[in-house]
Formats: sequence, C-alpha cells, structure tokens
Amino acid sequence: MVIWIYGGFKVINGLMTAGTLIALWGYYQQLMIHIESLKSFNSEYQRFKVNMNRLNEIVDFEKIDELQQDIKLNQINVENIVVSNVSFSYNGKCIISDFSEVFQKGDIVGIYGENGSGKSTLINIFSGFCKPDEGIIKINNIDISELKVHELKDILSIVPQDIQLFSTTVLDNICLDSKISIDEVLSLSNKIGFKGINEQFLNRVVLNKGANLSGGQKQKIAILRALIRNPSILILDEATSSLDFDSKEKFYAYINTIRDSIICFIISHEKESISLTKKIELKLNKERLCKVKMKK
Ligand SMILES: Nc1ncnc2c1ncn2[C@@H]1O[C@H](COP(=O)(O)OP(=O)(O)OP(=O)(O)O)[C@@H](O)[C@H]1O
Ligand SMILES: [Mg+2]
Repeated sequence: MVIWIYGGFKVINGLMTAGTLIALWGYYQQLMIHIESLKSFNSEYQRFKVNMNRLNEIVDFEKIDELQQDIKLNQINVENIVVSNVSFSYNGKCIISDFSEVFQKGDIVGIYGENGSGKSTLINIFSGFCKPDEGIIKINNIDISELKVHELKDILSIVPQDIQLFSTTVLDNICLDSKISIDEVLSLSNKIGFKGINEQFLNRVVLNKGANLSGGQKQKIAILRALIRNPSILILDEATSSLDFDSKEKFYAYINTIRDSIICFIISHEKESISLTKKIELKLNKERLCKVKMKK
C-alpha cells in the first residue's frame, strides 16, 4: 500500500514512471515473501538481498544518465538464452531441479504442467525476478543477474497472469513510461486484429485496478503493453485465457508473423498456442523436475 501511495504520488508528480512503479511492485512482492520466510535463513537471505538490490536500483531509477552509460545489451538483438543447471526452491520445497537448456531466436517454447507445478516460477527465474538457488542464466552470454532492471525491461516483455493496472487512461496503461502515440497503439491493435480497441476505449479511465473493464479487455491491454515495446523476449503467462475465440486466433496468428525475431515462452493449454510452439516443450511434473521434450 505504501509503495502504491508513495509511487503513485511520484508518478503523478512526474518523478517516477508508471513502468518503474510496476517493476517496483514486482520486486516488493518478492521481497515480502522472503522476509516472511527468513526462517530457512541462508538461501532466503541471498534472495532477499537480490530483491533488495533490485529495489534499490529502481528507486535510483531517476539517475537515467548514469544508467544509460552502463548498457550491456543490444536491445534488439537477443540471439540466445542459455540456462545452466538451474535449481530453485521455496522454503525448502524444490520447484525446479538442475534444469539446463538453450533457447535460440525463433524458438517458441511451450511450458506445460498442472496448477502449482512451477510454470510461473520458471518464467520469474528466466526474467530475473527470482534468483535461482543454483545455476546461471545468460542472455547473449551475459549473466542476467548483472543486467540492470531497465536493461531487462528493454528487451523482455511479460504478459503476466495477474495484470497490474493503474487508475489512469487505458492508453497510459499501455504506454507506461514510453513515448508512444495513440496512433502507434491503434496501428499495432489493427495489425493484431483486436476488435474494440479504438480512440474512445484508449481514452477511457481505468478505475480501481480495472474493476470497470472485462477480463478480455484487461488481457488486450496487457498484450498491447507487452508488444508495443517490440521485445526480443516475450513471455505469455496464460495471456489469452479470457480472449474470445476470434481475438485468440488473431493474436496467435500475429505472434506467428513476428516469431523469427523473438524468443517466446508461452504458458497456455489452448490449441492455437500449442500448434505454434516449435522444437521445445517444457513439462513440469509432480516430482518438481523440469522435463524437456523435443517437439517433432
Ligand atoms: N511466493 C511464493 N512463496 C512460496 N511458495 C510459492 C510462492 N509462489 C508460488 N509458490 C509455490 O510454488 C509452486 C509453484 O507455483 P507457480 O505459481 O510457479 O505454479 P504454476 O505452475 O504457475 O501454477 P498455475 O497453473 O496455477 O498458475 C506452488 O506449489 C506454489 O504454491
Ligand atoms: Mg502460474
């Protein structure tokens, strides 16, 4: 709550961007989980430190000049993600065990498994929100733990299961901190083929974290927010579960048109996404082992 009030105040006063506030909230949530579970002190403390460092980074986010001198990744040119011997557990409960894989540009990776099997956790690790207990993840041969939050934000977009919306216009919720025009958003929406995204809708004010929007509308906002940034890495966590049949079909057809230039992780059991996944499927099972199956 304090974060939203403090952050919201700074956003309103132009001292912090809405994108920064979202990242801040993500790390804050992770941080609180680790504070609550400091009983298993050692590994939890390490994760606590990671999230604390990430928070400090975001709070210092206004030092743009300093940050920009330190860019390690070419925003548009992610060639591969190499995951080496990654293990992760929550409070001693193993979620991912000794997982290694290489993902290349052009891969669309399906992640499957029953509820609670660790799918969202896996993508939190891939996206740098959670630090693995063991192992390394490298993007273009750079350890993601060395990347700044804003560098990751520039190359990676997530459509999460729980969508965070702000009490401002739909357009602002899509553009966040980027200078993107309404025409660009309309053009992207037309390319995808989403219905109902017009100027009037984009100027509508979101109330109470999206209470005045339908589930499908919220997902369309989150999808446009992710895609308008032209990410090199796109993560879709049950991103289309509320979309109508037509929107779903068009969305996955659009992903098919951009697939060669991205690495895409899709958590979804819908047939449109399953037919799209290429080469690799990750299956998480009850024994908390991440199995990789090569798709024929
Ligand atoms: N912050 C947390 N602290 C402790 N345990 C957690 C935390 N987040 C998730 N878990 C546990 O880790 C396991 C994996 O959770 P995760 O959210 O990754 O599952 P999922 O495969 O995405 O499930 P779903 O299909 O329901 O979205 C679950 O047993 C869950 O209870
Ligand atoms: Mg999940």
